[in-house]
Amino acid sequence: MQPETKLLEVKGLRAGYGETWAVHGIDFEVMAGRVTALLGANGAGKTTTLRAISGMVKTAGTVDFNGKSLVGMKTEAIAAAGIAHVPDGRGTFMELSVEENMKLGAYTRKGDQTAEFDRMFAYFPKLKERFRQQAGLLSGGEQQMLAIARALLLKPKLLLLDEPSFGLAPLIVREIFDIMRQIKDREGVGILVVEQNASLALDISENAYLLETGRIVMSGASSEIAKDEGLRRSYLGY
Ligand SMILES: Nc1ncnc2c1ncn2[C@@H]1O[C@H](COP(=O)(O)OP(=O)(O)O)[C@@H](O)[C@H]1O
Ligand SMILES: [Mg+2]
Repeated sequence: MQPETKLLEVKGLRAGYGETWAVHGIDFEVMAGRVTALLGANGAGKTTTLRAISGMVKTAGTVDFNGKSLVGMKTEAIAAAGIAHVPDGRGTFMELSVEENMKLGAYTRKGDQTAEFDRMFAYFPKLKERFRQQAGLLSGGEQQMLAIARALLLKPKLLLLDEPSFGLAPLIVREIFDIMRQIKDREGVGILVVEQNASLALDISENAYLLETGRIVMSGASSEIAKDEGLRRSYLGY
């Protein structure tokens, strides 16, 4: 997949629960080989937006992935089409070993998993050291690495990451994102990362959108937004 390829194009997306909408008609896109950040305070609708892409909540509007509409597709079909979702809380099975968690990640891929696992160990050597250990005993950073490795075993074209920095020390987050950058450059995946931590998210992304109570109030190149003190002060509060 070439960079500059539009992987995901979202238009007029509404998403919500029961009788109410939490996301009120938003437009954004994610390019292949790029990191796009979706910023916003707690409750802004970031998680709901990712859930809408994955077909997990009530949705209206247009969500095109590689030029094909995802609206109305089941979550499993969306995953099979090439979208891997690392949910908030990471979705790790704490009682299972690292190995078992990785096998679950690779469940749609038949045949020998050794080569695939080795590919993940090259990115995340700590997972190899801890392969037989219970996932619940890993550090927070290692658990996030495991969650990402599981998602990558699906060989996605688009990776959705919901607050990967949550509860982690900044240094670990940066380490994880350095690895993510290699992965995206080498494998050409697009990454949509949701973050409350705006300064961090602008640092690790190429493009950013800011959500406020279900609406996009700002968007642009991350470097431009980070540079603009007025924007940062009035919208991002740092
Ligand atoms: N399962 C749910 N049922 C009903 N409302 C929800 C549910 N999850 C989130 N919401 C509401 O949707 C809005 C957006 O939430 P969310 O997408 O989780 O925000 P964020 O991820 O940006 O913190 C909030 O008002 C929240 O209370
Ligand atoms: Mg959230």
